[in-house]
Amino acid sequence: MYRKAAIAVLLLLLSGTSILKGQASGNSTIDVIMSGYSAKLFISEPVTDQQLEQILKCGIKAPSARNSQLWKFTVVKDYALIADIIRNSTPGNIIVIVSGQDTNQSGINVDFDCALATENMYLAAQSLGLGAHIYAGPVGIINSSKKEALGIPEGYRAISVLRIGNIDKSVDATSGASTRKTFQEMVNYK
Ligand SMILES: Cc1cc2nc3c(=O)[nH]c(=O)nc-3n(C[C@H](O)[C@H](O)[C@H](O)COP(=O)(O)O)c2cc1C
Repeated sequence: MYRKAAIAVLLLLLSGTSILKGQASGNSTIDVIMSGYSAKLFISEPVTDQQLEQILKCGIKAPSARNSQLWKFTVVKDYALIADIIRNSTPGNIIVIVSGQDTNQSGINVDFDCALATENMYLAAQSLGLGAHIYAGPVGIINSSKKEALGIPEGYRAISVLRIGNIDKSVDATSGASTRKTFQEMVNYK
């Protein structure tokens, strides 16, 4: 009897802490990274210009080899254009196409730099409470037939597409992070 009561009190106390609520670390950057996932179910509430600008600034802030910044960010708000690039897109979504300029300069891997810019924006969007999803699938079709229509400059090729939009976490049972391999499988110390 006393044991059951003690357990109930302990659970009550723990329920107010991060132990049962989740894995909040107390560090907002780590929490955004650890709670992030590729959103699949978006709602049509538009992303604001202020949010978009903050996200783009985080892309521009990404590090690049030799600070070469050989990237361009193409913002697409037009629903018909987006729907042509991403299946199941939702009105209100925005996509940012990250394109890189190929170069012969040694020590530069433009794909790598563009990936960092993409990830910066992916995390920035999630930190603002938005949903985000990175796609590489559509870059083939963009590069083969849509560069001109999208205004991607000559000499650049699309490397990633970042979809951003509002999500309703309370009704979204579809999205969620995929599982990851274990720490033991992925990490070794020497
Ligand atoms: C470089 C890259 C390319 C991706 N391309 C696609 C894609 O073409 N289509 C898609 O649905 N998801 C794509 N994704 C999303 C991944 O499938 C997703 O991040 C992964 O399955 C882990 O899921 P989670 O982010 O929800 O945990 C891509 C992610 C990355 C980093």
